[in-house]
Amino acid sequence: MRRPLVRALTRPLALAAAAMAIPLVSASPAASDGVVVGGFPVDVSVSPWTVALSSRDRFGGMRSGQFCGGVVVGPATVLTAAHCMAKEVLGSPRVTDLTVVAGRTDLYSDVGREIPVGEVWVNPAYDSSSNSGDFAVLKLTEALPQSSVIGMAAAGDPAYTPGTEATVYGWGDTTGIGSYAHTLRAARLHVLPDSHCEAAYPGPAEGTYEAETMVCAGEVRGGRDACQGDSGGPLVAQGRLIGLVSWGSGCGRPTSPGVYTRVSDLMRVLRWDTGSRESNETA
Ligand code: ARG
Repeated sequence: MRRPLVRALTRPLALAAAAMAIPLVSASPAASDGVVVGGFPVDVSVSPWTVALSSRDRFGGMRSGQFCGGVVVGPATVLTAAHCMAKEVLGSPRVTDLTVVAGRTDLYSDVGREIPVGEVWVNPAYDSSSNSGDFAVLKLTEALPQSSVIGMAAAGDPAYTPGTEATVYGWGDTTGIGSYAHTLRAARLHVLPDSHCEAAYPGPAEGTYEAETMVCAGEVRGGRDACQGDSGGPLVAQGRLIGLVSWGSGCGRPTSPGVYTRVSDLMRVLRWDTGSRESNETA
């Protein structure tokens, strides 16, 4: 990592908010047919790089304090969405019990590991009005096994080609109206041409799609999508990470695909060396 990590603020926060990560785009209530909407249950062992971000202080203990997703891209390195670290989500000062939950399919259980987050680095180029550059890097205080690490798809990787099958994972809303899952779910989608999201999100009202920093994915007929609470979690194609759940209008609507943080752009910003995945584990 060439850029300084910003240490998470460390003052207590009394508020126990039930609020989930907020939708970034003002959207009328979504009607969807239920991940992740339109998804299916999966065991976390099939996607060990999918982790839950949690703060019991802020979100309560019921669902292990889950409020966003994350992705293990190095033994002690987790990616999530920048907006998951926003003060509207984590309070100001930021919660002190930010934790990554790994290996826990069912958030009602205590299976797996809870690892405190040591440092939080939010992409300084993240723009909360356009949602561009929506990623943050979390450094864990303990390492996960290498078998939990997923590789990232660099620029030019065929996994970004429109039409490619992709899968999104998360514990988020399964209906679009606030029914949060307690077991991990996945939905099979396709990478869509940038033109779909450019048409769906041409400007400020519904958000602005930016092909350089975002990936468009979903189903043309709708039905399958990420949703609130899935943010920061993985979009995987051909076994590689191509996106992080970022935003959308409603969930699973036919003309409003999901928008994901483009992982190849994030690698560029982080100057991530594809040849040695561990280069960011030190320094
Ligand atoms: N912003 C949401 C979150 O914080 C993710 C929304 C994704 N929406 C979608 N339709 N794909 O969890």
